[in-house]
Amino acid sequence: MGMPSHQDPGLLVDGVARFVPPGVDHATLPRSFALLEPLPARGPVPESWALFPRFQSTSDAFVASFPIDSDASLYGTGEVAGPLLRNGFVTEVWAKQPFRVEADGTAVPNYDERSKSLYQAHPWVLAVRGNGSAFGVLADTTYRLEIDLRDGIRLSCVEPFPVIVIEGVSPQEVVQRLATLTGLMQMPPRWALGYQQCRFSYYPNARVRELAKEFRTRAIPCDVIWIDIHYMDEYKVFTFDPERFPDPKGINDHLHALGFKSVWILDPAVKAESGYAVYDEGVAEGHFLCDAEGHEHHECTWTGDAAFPDYTRPETRAWWTRLTMEFLDNGMDGVWVDLNEPSPILPLGAELPEDLRHRGGDGIAAGTHAQYHNVYGMLMAKATDDAMRESRPKRRPFVLSRSSYLGGQRYAATWTGDNVSSWQHLRWSVPMVLNLGLSGQPFCGPDIGGFAGTPSPELFAHWIGLGAFLPFCRTHNALEGDQEPWSFGAATEKLARSALTRRYRLLPYLYTAFYEAATTGLPIARPLFFADPADLALRDEDHAFLLGSDLLVQPRLLEDGGRDFPMPNGQWRSFTLGDEDPAAEAAHPVLRLREGAIVPVGAGGQTTEEAFEGPLTLLVSLDTRGRASGRLYEDAGDGFGYLDGDYLLTTYEAVSKGDVVEVRIAREEGRRPRSVRALHVEFLTGQGAVHAQGTDGQPVTLRRR
Ligand code: NOJ
Repeated sequence: MGMPSHQDPGLLVDGVARFVPPGVDHATLPRSFALLEPLPARGPVPESWALFPRFQSTSDAFVASFPIDSDASLYGTGEVAGPLLRNGFVTEVWAKQPFRVEADGTAVPNYDERSKSLYQAHPWVLAVRGNGSAFGVLADTTYRLEIDLRDGIRLSCVEPFPVIVIEGVSPQEVVQRLATLTGLMQMPPRWALGYQQCRFSYYPNARVRELAKEFRTRAIPCDVIWIDIHYMDEYKVFTFDPERFPDPKGINDHLHALGFKSVWILDPAVKAESGYAVYDEGVAEGHFLCDAEGHEHHECTWTGDAAFPDYTRPETRAWWTRLTMEFLDNGMDGVWVDLNEPSPILPLGAELPEDLRHRGGDGIAAGTHAQYHNVYGMLMAKATDDAMRESRPKRRPFVLSRSSYLGGQRYAATWTGDNVSSWQHLRWSVPMVLNLGLSGQPFCGPDIGGFAGTPSPELFAHWIGLGAFLPFCRTHNALEGDQEPWSFGAATEKLARSALTRRYRLLPYLYTAFYEAATTGLPIARPLFFADPADLALRDEDHAFLLGSDLLVQPRLLEDGGRDFPMPNGQWRSFTLGDEDPAAEAAHPVLRLREGAIVPVGAGGQTTEEAFEGPLTLLVSLDTRGRASGRLYEDAGDGFGYLDGDYLLTTYEAVSKGDVVEVRIAREEGRRPRSVRALHVEFLTGQGAVHAQGTDGQPVTLRRR
């Protein structure tokens, strides 16, 4: 985060222009937190530019508005519950722990389509015009912003703000340009694509061992076990409960020996207790947020009275990074940063006062909490990501952050917070993940099964069946009933196993989609309209979605028996992954392959590592010209060798001559040697599949039926 240089309004790069309200000097506005780096204007906005904001100011707000055509569809706005299509909604960009007050007056975590703000802050709208071309609007401010999509796009804020407009021939181009401006997700370690089991909380450490053993004994694929707050000593961050977790390194070693990774939680709040080293150090070094009079501010959290680090200060981020590095010495593989909206917890819904003072430094100006509230979570995630990079320079970091801001994909993955065990929340899993992806964050998913409450066996089976095709795949629940794949009886366990087996078989394709997201900014889970942005019938499809560009996932998640989904043009042939089973067919999504596509799949396994060993299968669906192509990305699965060419990106193609189809390698990139492995080709005809065997690297021919 270096010093911002002078930034003028004007054309930033092709297709991207910045506008500032009249009478406002851009150089006097706060630095951008969304942009990867300061972007000076290249020149004036060209005369051919079509879309200009209309700036107005009222007595209490600065407003920028854009009229839209009646056939324009609006998306994005980050983490929002409700339908994918955002026309008609009002979002308040203000990171918040949502909650509901029950009849008896108690507050419980909850959200629904009326929640104006959730945990993250994305001042961003994507608009797709009737003809399929698109534009995006980025309000480049960290202050509280209202995005009103009831009549065009209306952005309003108490402070003046610049607007960055991105034009594109398609929504894909706009989303990629957004990533050029705000940064890409880093390629995660491959294990992070595996299934993950979490609970608030698994403790003591004997329970964690039992859980790990249970997964392996029951042969349910799983890569990661998560450790929530009960490991801490009185919920004091960077401590371990001497009885529940006397030997954190020992438990991590144990998990590693069974092929698991572990991710442990950290909260930002630090118990205000003298004698507690983290607090004493924080006080001595001035790391905590204070009010205007300079008094350290406290709120009530899990741990009681607590102070909050001021992550706008470079010294405080460095301190957090050092503490996290010491924590990581115990062998954790990833870190989960939670409650970083920040949320004090008690009472639920409490927030830090907006007049607290952040001191900033190194290009971040001193300012109030009103200014920095929305980037608190992202700055905490950045300091945590720095710790992972510094402590293991040869490994890829993994951080999951509950709160974030536009551009936060640079530092962390995310999940959709405290959802509820209901069919409605299962349905919202899809549009929430899609809109996050359209807002720059490709690596996300819901708490499978729901966080609050306990799902019925049917609901859990449907949720894990669908969750297996979302980028981040983790079951998590609160203190109530058990939510392991085997907690709902033998039939549901079998369904959960088959859902995860499908994911593990698809990992070569999924990892390739992650690579595409990490290099281009295209989402991993994509809305159906990406298949044909000009097809208005696809614009409001909330449930069916695309995984990468070639797979269509059609959930069967309606308790009332399902419905017909709109289909993009062309043949989308359904296929199975060797998992034909009537019960699974009723609960799990239908998978369809785009015509003209080749999708690589593996043999599956209990861990992601196993899933990348063994034979490779190519699923081939020919287009009307008898051709198909598809890519497979492979690398070491961890580390940074891929940045120096240690990867293999293979483009396979299928070409037909008469009845004979040849499947061969069209292109290779990277210098990683090809594994010696059998190649199985499965050619989808629409009337069953035709199979052929060969060796990867050599052409395989087969005869069409
Ligand atoms: C709130 C988080 O959203 C939830 O996932 C977690 O289990 C609890 N905090 C306890 O740490």
